[in-house]
Amino acid sequence: MSPSGDGGAGPAPASASLAPGQVTGKVALVTGGGSGIGAGIARLLAQHGAAVVLLGRTQAKLDAVAAEIVAAGGLAEACATDVRDFAAVERAVARAVEAFGHLDIVINSAAGNFLSPAAALSANGFRTVIDIDLCGTFNACRASFAELAKTRGCIVSITATQAEVPTPLQVHAGAAKAGIEKLTRDLALEWASSGVRVNSVAPGPIEATEGMKRLAPGAAQASLRKQVPLGRWGSIDEVAPAVVYLCSPAASFITGTSLLIDGGTSLTGAAGMMSLLGG
Ligand code: HXC
Ligand code: NAP
Repeated sequence: MSPSGDGGAGPAPASASLAPGQVTGKVALVTGGGSGIGAGIARLLAQHGAAVVLLGRTQAKLDAVAAEIVAAGGLAEACATDVRDFAAVERAVARAVEAFGHLDIVINSAAGNFLSPAAALSANGFRTVIDIDLCGTFNACRASFAELAKTRGCIVSITATQAEVPTPLQVHAGAAKAGIEKLTRDLALEWASSGVRVNSVAPGPIEATEGMKRLAPGAAQASLRKQVPLGRWGSIDEVAPAVVYLCSPAASFITGTSLLIDGGTSLTGAAGMMSLLGG
């Protein structure tokens, strides 16, 4: 419950901003950069001086975000790419380097999700989410490693609280996000000697996103809001600065970690998630 006892629907406080120029001169590839949290991260990276290359399947969405960044004085390219297609991801990496000279940052935000009881989920439904989230993240990391090693760059992958917290109707996404958390730690260890840092960020419920539109239909919303100890859902503007920080020189000794940005949601464990079952 929020301090006002209103069930937690109050507005987010104005978010504090990072000092300008956290990633000046860097080049960032952002998967899922055409909408939601990925677009918010791309916008903030660009505001802090990075050129951004946006990946996703829908050219129009990428073009719109890229145009907005360019209109604000930034540098951006849209590169329609399905992260499940390794050769296409390799081409996107090559295009980023061709356009901007090098690659310093990779953000993995592309994902697919829906609510489904495990007992009704088809093998292809499970595989599709694993393929986009986990294999797509591996593809982007693997395709960009050689360039990141040249710049001593970094990777930040967006996971979710259900990587750790058991969640009904989310066996596919939970397994995928848990896999990305493990991939993060293994790559961090293996690539540390190349100077490449690998971290993840695990958001809880974030307002005004496709993710929460899909995961909190109707009746489940009120109880999912009450479950957040800070009393409200977060905003994209509260996720993006943490990602920019992890990409900045201030985080130069941080690798192999996962940063929860969930208002304390995961502290309350699995019980609160049972509301997804409509009970
Ligand atoms: C059960 C479903 C389903 C549903 C699709 N499938 N939707 N099963 N319930 N609602 C099954 C299909 O029947 C099919 O299996 C298989 O999944 C593949 O479906 P396609 O439509 O062919 O897949 P594709 O076109 O690749 O689309 C992928 C997608 C889609 C994930 C299904 O929804 C998508 O593109 N989503 C991208 C945007 C998105 O999801 N954003 C939210 C991310 S939020 P069969 O057996 O029939 O062939 C997020 C939140 C994290 O990750 C956590 C928050 C706390
Ligand atoms: P979103 O707007 O739907 O973002 C997902 C993006 O991934 C879309 O732009 C989508 O664009 C892209 N995408 C999907 N499949 C792809 C593929 N095969 N290849 C390339 N791009 C693909 O949803 P969001 O809620 O902002 O989620 C962003 C990230 O945050 C995801 O990793 C999600 O799991 C994570 N997250 C969200 C929340 C939340 O509360 N929303 C909480 C925790 C974690 P196209 O469909 O055009 O390809």
